[in-house]
Parts: sequence; C-alpha cells; structure tokens
Amino acid sequence: MPSLDPEAGIVMPVFENDGLEVLACMLDVRLDLIRELGSCLTEDECRRAGGLTRERDRRRFIVTRGQLRHSLGSKLGLPPSDVELEYGPQGKPRLSRRMPMRELHFCVSRSGDLAVIAFSHEREVGVDVEEVRPFAEADDIAALCFSVSDYESYRTLPPEEQLEGFLRRWTRLEAISKAFGCGLGGAIPSDVQDWALHTFVPKVGYIGTLAAQN
Ligand SMILES: CC(C)(COP(=O)(O)OP(=O)(O)OC[C@H]1O[C@@H](n2cnc3c(N)ncnc32)[C@H](O)[C@@H]1OP(=O)(O)O)[C@@H](O)C(=O)NCCC(=O)NCCS
Repeated sequence: MPSLDPEAGIVMPVFENDGLEVLACMLDVRLDLIRELGSCLTEDECRRAGGLTRERDRRRFIVTRGQLRHSLGSKLGLPPSDVELEYGPQGKPRLSRRMPMRELHFCVSRSGDLAVIAFSHEREVGVDVEEVRPFAEADDIAALCFSVSDYESYRTLPPEEQLEGFLRRWTRLEAISKAFGCGLGGAIPSDVQDWALHTFVPKVGYIGTLAAQN
C-alpha cells in the first residue's frame, strides 16, 4: 500500500486497472503549497472556498480542487488554470465542451484529510472514500439506504467486521450515485449490474470504492 507524505502534497496512484485510475492526495499540507494550488482556481471556485465557514474546510476544498486542476491539466496538456469545468444538473463536475479529450471522465471524493480523484477514458466513473471511524448512525443509515440483500448481509456480520462492512457497502452506494451524477437520494436509472465496482484502500484507515460503467 502506498504511503502518503502529508507534507509533500504528492498525488499518488492508489488504484490502476482496466483503463481506470484513482489518485490520492493528502489535504493538510504546507501553506505555500495551498497558496500555489489556490492560485489556479477560478473566481467562482475562490468564492466557494470563501463561503466555507471553517478554515480547515476551506483549505481542504482548495487543495482538492487545485490537485484536480493539476491532474486534469497534465492529462490535457494545459496549465491547471486553463482547465474549464462545467456542472451536471445535480452538481457533478465534468470537462467543458470546449476542452480537448471530453471523453475523459473523472470523479472526486474526500474524507478527513484525504482526497481521491478517479479517471477513466470513455467510461463514466464515480468514486467515494470514507475514513474508517466509528459511525453511531451506521445501523439506521443501513436500514434506510441499503438494498434488502446488502442490509441482510450487513446485519449478519460479526460485530468486529460491521464498521468496515458498513463502509464498503456505503461507499459502493455513493460511488454508483456519483457515477450517475445524481447524488444520494437520486433515482439510479439503470441496473447496478451495469457497473464494475472496485474497493480500494488508499491509505491505512480509509476505504474507497470506484464504480465504472461496464
Ligand atoms: C454529491 C454527493 C454524493 C457528494 O457526497 P459527499 O460524501 O458529500 O462528498 P464527496 O467528498 O464524496 O464528494 C464531493 C465531490 O463530489 C463531486 N460532486 C458534487 N456533486 C456531485 C454529483 N451530483 N454527482 C457526482 N459528483 C458530485 C464534486 O467534485 C465534489 O467535490 P467538491 O466539493 O470539491 O466540489 C452528495 O453531496 C449528494 O448526494 N448531494 C446531493 C445532490 C443532490 O442535490 N441531489 C438531489 C437529488 S438527485
């Protein structure tokens, strides 16, 4: 498993398979790196950062968006600030139609001090990452959101496996929803069988799932 240096702000591949790629980066990095990453954000993105009340959330948003811009820029051969994004009806970011390689799909997730960015040429992708930490509402959320079979299999896990079992199922659900761009609560318009699901561990203490259209 790759180790991520929190100070360096390095973007590390944490999953690669079948044309799919997931990069991870630490979010609590040095101030000079935050400034450098922040300098490629658009006015709208800076406004969004400015609207976040907690300083830590602001920093983490800036680093995630800056790293997304740098990664996209290097794939497109463009400076990070020239990468143009647009948004789906429920807010999923994608490359604007003026960009080269519009078939490059990506999805972003962050939890705690870690962000992951999934990329795929041609296949729609969704990704979700969660820090593995006790979740008081896990049982209620499972009852409300999981499918009958997921709920049944979750409930029969031994207690020591329940937290990870919950997060595996939860990140699967979120990754599929994010691939569709509808977010949780949105109707998933096709069969889940149409999706390849890959669970990965980007760093000790975190769990993620990548959903890619078959
Ligand atoms: C989208 C959503 C799943 C994000 O989940 P989350 O656990 O809060 O956050 P994550 O860290 O995993 O993902 C955040 C990233 O997802 C992306 N994103 C935002 N909206 C998205 C959407 N609709 N679909 C896919 N990705 C989305 C963005 O890149 C965002 O990063 P940013 O905050 O740096 O811009 C969640 O906010 C949600 O369900 N929103 C509701 C969407 C909505 O309005 N639905 C209405 C009914 S369909």
